[in-house]
Amino acid sequence: APARAPGGALLGFRAVPASSADAVVVPPGYVAEVIYAWGDAIGAPGLAAGQPAFRGDGSHSAEDQQLQAGMHHDGMHFFPAGRGDRGLLVVNHEYTDEGLLHADGMQTWSAEKVRKSQAALGVSVVELARAADGRWAVQRPSAYARRISARTPMTISGPAAGHALMRTEFDPGGREVIGTFNNCAHGVTPWGTYLACEENFVGYFHGPAQPDAHAKRWGLTPGGYGLRWHEHDARFNATLHPNEFNRFGWVVEIDPLDPRSTPVKRTALGRAAHEGAFVTQAADGRAVVYMGEDARFEYLYKFVSRDPVRTGGYANNREVLDHGTLYVARFDSDGTGEWLALVHGQNGLDAQAGFADQGELLVKSRQASDKVGATKMDRPEWIAGDPRTATLYCSLTNNSRRGTDGYPAVDAANPRARNTMGEVIRWTEVGGHAATRFLWDHFILAGDPANERAEARGNVKGDPFGSPDGLWFDARGVLWIATDASPTALGQGDYARLGNNMLLAADPRSGEVRRFLTGPVGCEITGMVGTPDLRTLFVNIQHPGEGGNDPGDPAAARKRSTWPGGGGRPRSATVAIRRIDGGAIGT
Ligand code: FEO
Ligand code: CA
Ligand code: CA
Ligand code: CA
Repeated sequence: APARAPGGALLGFRAVPASSADAVVVPPGYVAEVIYAWGDAIGAPGLAAGQPAFRGDGSHSAEDQQLQAGMHHDGMHFFPAGRGDRGLLVVNHEYTDEGLLHADGMQTWSAEKVRKSQAALGVSVVELARAADGRWAVQRPSAYARRISARTPMTISGPAAGHALMRTEFDPGGREVIGTFNNCAHGVTPWGTYLACEENFVGYFHGPAQPDAHAKRWGLTPGGYGLRWHEHDARFNATLHPNEFNRFGWVVEIDPLDPRSTPVKRTALGRAAHEGAFVTQAADGRAVVYMGEDARFEYLYKFVSRDPVRTGGYANNREVLDHGTLYVARFDSDGTGEWLALVHGQNGLDAQAGFADQGELLVKSRQASDKVGATKMDRPEWIAGDPRTATLYCSLTNNSRRGTDGYPAVDAANPRARNTMGEVIRWTEVGGHAATRFLWDHFILAGDPANERAEARGNVKGDPFGSPDGLWFDARGVLWIATDASPTALGQGDYARLGNNMLLAADPRSGEVRRFLTGPVGCEITGMVGTPDLRTLFVNIQHPGEGGNDPGDPAAARKRSTWPGGGGRPRSATVAIRRIDGGAIGT
């Protein structure tokens, strides 16, 4: 079938229908091929190809897992080499499904299981090459192959490095930390490094029954996510080591080209349940980083570097993200907005307000944002910049508590009560990316026009969707939107007609939205990024079948998935999508 559809200059593919199939469905004329699934060997130097091998029953060891793809692929970037037929794929592994990770599930815990859990998180760096027929494959072995995990040593830099709040029994200097985890979305710097963002870190810690104000503001609880790491790794017992959790929630800079490099947590960018970090540049060359905090009623941030970006790669830009100004957004009801500086001594952020210095202010970024009166948002997730207009887009994925009893009311920027469907908000800086004033509006209120509930109908021109999460602009100016409605929401209530999670393409000028891909049962779609020639789009399928094996869930059968097949457990994976005729994706 022809890949091109008549009409629409920007969106040239045929839409796929909403789907509840346990499959990746792409338009006629396209193919989607799995290239890197949970448990696949990264191709570590010195090992035979394919080693250590994945075991479909989950019986591979923690040490095996450290040299294999982690679980729950999320944000991702392709760093091309040469003419673009090779390159490094860098993939976040956001979280784990412990019931699938271990051969015997999570009824019992051991030090080995905690190590395996920690090894399945973090980041992969794998080398890819494209064959003459257009297919991509991981190169094994590769000198670049690397896993960064919750067990990898890293350094801490910026104003909070060495701060009293960052010092622990294990690291009295407060400048060295083991590991990164819950890396959701990501960023890419102009000097060629990768930013992995630490999102829901707090649930990995065992918190005190009576939390202090700081622990309470960040949501530390005794149960956390039920992972029980603290029983075998004392760092995660926040009742004994209360500062360890201050060392997470940062943006981590990784040099994918140097497999021996030490990742760096950049504290100048603030601490948050960081979804991602979209990097662009001001006209004078300074780096500007936009960051959402995906949590209900949390904030949108921007960092402007002190120094301009220099040519010469990471070697000449090692401290750009250590010096600069952090801001938080306030959206006003007249369609304007302001970036409020989170700088010690400004905007009431002083010792009297609980911030002894800039280091403490950064560790307590949420409290500082509360103090300056920033706008509490409906879960800001990915941010992307239109390459042609310098307008920024951010998905506000959903917030079912908005406007309900005991929670903040609707406001202009977060306009829907019991917001199950989410929005894409956008803004343009008045005077360039380093400016402190902006103009904003909503690009799309997501929803289903057939919904009975007015707040869930939205204003989508084209294929209906909800819970926008991943956003990525291709070089042609298409805004790709990936959805992440939770498996408990999918297929019922406000989502009854929307099918599985999907990837859509939007024309930012006309507002038209067209469904490009639907994912398997229970998965989230995320991580999309194209090759420079746009002949391939890499996409991550996260957590197919989530909840499908939960013995306590009466709806488990409806969520069960066997994707990507092969008879084993369902596996998160990267797929490479290309056109059979070799043309550019989406045209
Ligand atoms: Fe990890 Fe905000 O999704
Ligand atoms: Ca996300
Ligand atoms: Ca999400
Ligand atoms: Ca998810």
